[in-house]
Amino acid sequence: MIVKSCEFVISAMSKEQFPRDFLPEIALAGRSNVGKSSLINRMINRKNLARTSSQPGKTQTLNYYLVNNSFYFVDFPGYGFAKVSKSLRQKWGQLIESYLLNRSELKLVLQIVDLRHPPTADDRMMYEWLKHYQIPMCVVATKADKIPKTRLPGHLRLIRQTFGMSDHDRLVMFSAETGAGKDELWSLIASFLQTDLQTESPQRSQGEKP
Ligand code: GTP
Ligand code: MG
Repeated sequence: MIVKSCEFVISAMSKEQFPRDFLPEIALAGRSNVGKSSLINRMINRKNLARTSSQPGKTQTLNYYLVNNSFYFVDFPGYGFAKVSKSLRQKWGQLIESYLLNRSELKLVLQIVDLRHPPTADDRMMYEWLKHYQIPMCVVATKADKIPKTRLPGHLRLIRQTFGMSDHDRLVMFSAETGAGKDELWSLIASFLQTDLQTESPQRSQGEKP
């Protein structure tokens, strides 16, 4: 994917604020501080368009980033702060649950986990919830730069085991630091957007400019 443009569009706090241009959306879910915003920045080659922080839980809204005027990355708030409770709704908010279940523009959820550690109980709950509702998803194991190369296969295996993933379930290894996994992830995203890697979709008019 050649990223020609990327802009922050809105921090949506309610569904009335979601864009109405019917462009496809790729959402990112994961624990606070796992590296969701950093992944977006690496994918679009921008240092700090998606805000990153060492302060967990900073992203509290659904943040929309428009790429090449053809699709959105939707950066979710991090989960994993509330104590044990039963439903995703209680745990993470009605807005996100309803987005995941009803948003027809949603094409793929990237579930971001930390490659260094086995997925947490919250990660497993998210994974099972997405599976249960048959929402297209790919697990992305990030911070790969923090693991010595020889130990990468073992860490990937542990993630597959903990989630109970089959060989067919998608898992991409990634590093926002080095860019490892970026091309693979772009190919995957492009296949869900059903767009050619090189071309720009003409779906959205650029007529606003004078
Ligand atoms: P919230 O918005 O709070 O949910 O966090 P987030 O998931 O968006 O995480 P963010 O991208 O802000 O990254 C959290 C911290 O991890 C920052 O200090 C990043 O620099 C660091 N980080 C993210 N990705 C990587 C990576 O691939 N490698 C390394 N070494 N550090 C990373
Ligand atoms: Mg963030």
